[in-house]
Amino acid sequence: MMRHCFGIAFDIDGVLIRGGRALPHAAKRIKQLQEKHVPHIFLTNGGGCVEEKKSKTLSSILNLPIDPKQMILAHTPMRELVKQYADSKVLVMGAYDVLDVAHHYGFKKVISIQDLAQHNPHQYPFLDWQHKKSPFAEEPIGAIIIFHDPIHWAQDLQIAIDALVGGDPLGSGKGPQTPLFVSNDDFTFSGAYPVPRFAQGAFTRCLKLLYEQHTGKPLEITRFGKPHLVQYEFAEEVMQSQVSQPLERFYGIGDNPFSDIQGANAAGHHWTSVLVRTGVFQSDQENHDEHPGDIVVDSVDEAVEWILHEE
Ligand code: G3P
Ligand code: MG
Repeated sequence: MMRHCFGIAFDIDGVLIRGGRALPHAAKRIKQLQEKHVPHIFLTNGGGCVEEKKSKTLSSILNLPIDPKQMILAHTPMRELVKQYADSKVLVMGAYDVLDVAHHYGFKKVISIQDLAQHNPHQYPFLDWQHKKSPFAEEPIGAIIIFHDPIHWAQDLQIAIDALVGGDPLGSGKGPQTPLFVSNDDFTFSGAYPVPRFAQGAFTRCLKLLYEQHTGKPLEITRFGKPHLVQYEFAEEVMQSQVSQPLERFYGIGDNPFSDIQGANAAGHHWTSVLVRTGVFQSDQENHDEHPGDIVVDSVDEAVEWILHEE
């Protein structure tokens, strides 16, 4: 068996799938890498579920076995935050199964925006919540963690800002800000709709604007997900764990110049960025002006062909 010294990180939305359907030749290329034992991972800024669930979904779309250990969601490296916040009350935000994700990672005192809204229905008066006591109501919020895209923005913005100012509800700017962690800075993502849709990063930009106008202080944010280095260091570790020989080179295939390409370009000279035209970047320009790919190809099919030829 050949011992490859390189690994490939595949973005999912806009590279392998789009709007829940496989893109042409995606499955064929992943199967080829499985057969050749080329180390590879799925490095997505998606999430909102546990890694096992996302692997099953991708597996059924591509009709291939996918090992959950190969799946790095935007929030996968946030497991590390448990060391700091396992016993603190954390406000977990985002759609889908984010509360399950938090429990799965080991956070013990997890609450949602809805818990807070129901605890005090006057806090967000535009929805008709019935009072229900929140779990851990007597404890302060130790951290706010956005694990996935929030969907009820108006309520979520109001209550998140209340949580950020914590003991200083009038927003004088004098009190400390509750620590905020976000999993995905993407402004847009590519789905079934012909034009990209707002992603979690768009929500965070709104939150930042409102917090700063309210308090006069900059909003401090600890960011995970692509394009941040934390994600690429984690990705390297996971690919290295698949083989015994040291990996020397990594390829990041992605459709979003601001996420996949910026991230791979900044992760070091041992990373090569491969920009495809099947998602956010669909321009007929040769390359992206601000975050150019080391190579630009039409599809994942051509991307893998090019990498295998290079190697
Ligand atoms: O940012 C939203 C998410 O759907 C992006 O996924 O796989 O393109 O990183 P992906
Ligand atoms: Mg993408």
